[in-house]
Amino acid sequence: MDQIIVRGNGPLQGEIPIAGAKNACLTLMPATLLTDQPLTLTNAPRLSDIRTMTALLQSMGVEVTSLQDGQVLAMSSHALTSHRAEYDIVRKMRASILVLGPMLAREGRAEVSLPGGCAIGARPVDLHLSALQAMGAELDLRDGYVYAKAPSAGLKGAEFEFPLVSVGATENALMAATLARGTTVLKNAAREPEIVDLVQCLRRMGAQIEGEGTGTITIQGVDSLHGATHPVVTDRIELGTYMLAPAMCGGEIELLGGRIDLLAAFCEKLDEAGISINETPRGLKVARKNGRVRAVDVATAPYPGFPTDLQAQFMALMCLAEGSSVLEETIFENRFMHAPELTRMGAQIEVHGGQAKVTGVRQLRGAPVMATDLRASVSLILAGMAAEGQTTVSRVYHLDRGYEHVVRKLRGVGALIERVKEE
Ligand code: EPZ
Repeated sequence: MDQIIVRGNGPLQGEIPIAGAKNACLTLMPATLLTDQPLTLTNAPRLSDIRTMTALLQSMGVEVTSLQDGQVLAMSSHALTSHRAEYDIVRKMRASILVLGPMLAREGRAEVSLPGGCAIGARPVDLHLSALQAMGAELDLRDGYVYAKAPSAGLKGAEFEFPLVSVGATENALMAATLARGTTVLKNAAREPEIVDLVQCLRRMGAQIEGEGTGTITIQGVDSLHGATHPVVTDRIELGTYMLAPAMCGGEIELLGGRIDLLAAFCEKLDEAGISINETPRGLKVARKNGRVRAVDVATAPYPGFPTDLQAQFMALMCLAEGSSVLEETIFENRFMHAPELTRMGAQIEVHGGQAKVTGVRQLRGAPVMATDLRASVSLILAGMAAEGQTTVSRVYHLDRGYEHVVRKLRGVGALIERVKEE
């Protein structure tokens, strides 16, 4: 397995292009199952998760052609050969569950392996299943798979209120409802920009949807959808991650394609901490104002709240802040695994259940650390860039799931970082 070696190197300077959103692309790709006509995605990110979703769709007979070094995905589901999403692919990536709704809506049946949990939590899919059942789906859970069938007349529109906000369950229900008979109203729906992006793509395909970005989404089912070409929205989590680089190391960098509206709550916290963020014609310029970063408290929440996917990275910043901060993780039950690794670098962090109290120190020290999940891995890299000495991050395969060309992008703004094969 590869390792990343990073050395503290002072202020950063330069620009980083931000890619298309992993978490938008992973729901836009299964949308191809809703039509027998071509769906083409542009601005697609080059990530291992996208390659896994590609393999899953291909295993069902979807033609997926990757063009322009992976930035364009040309897909066609005109000749599906299977309704089954096998465990050996699903276990690699939970987002595989997102083929369930569209496959059921288009073909009337689907067999999808239940995704296991993952490092950050149990991550059940009960809300996905309840929403589909409300539309008339008959579900049979056995031998680790969900066997789903739609009524012979197809899924029917329904009114469904989510007991808690779920991004994936909203996406599954939304896609299924586009082909259901009649009207579906999803209440307490997720409001993430990735949901808005999915709706914009579905609308291009002929779907009739209103209310995206609010808590209530209304879908008028149609008989069929047609093909489309859709640009994947900018990745707000990659954007927020790289905004923290100058915040921790000093200097100023420009994030090409960055948009403040995608990360308003996060930007407010950065501003409180003493980081300057300025919109430019090409994106966002981010710099640390004079003096140390100030400690600020954060609680993660569904959009438009502070994103859970930026909690680990923000904790790395708070490790260097003046004062103490409390980070509360309200979405997942085990998302502080980066804390003990940061502690190895001299950070002062006390974790009590869903809260982490961070007392800032003046300097972190490089150390060998281990990545435990996608966002923790990049949190450790950020800490290593600001630390004194060398940090070696192992198990960086986590990184490849969500960050394309991370070494190239950070080296481009002056970081001393390289990727090596583990001895
Ligand atoms: C999406 O996961 C993202 N993944 C996650 O990003 C992100 O952290 C999460 O949304 C929250 O924003 C993709 O979009 C591929 P949820 P998802 O359903 O849809 C519970 C990353 O780092 N829940 O909104 O799985 C669940 O356990 C990843 O890019 C149920 O109880 O998240 C969690 O506690 C990590 N039953 C909470 O809801 C269900 O049926 C929110 O989960 C579904 C979810």
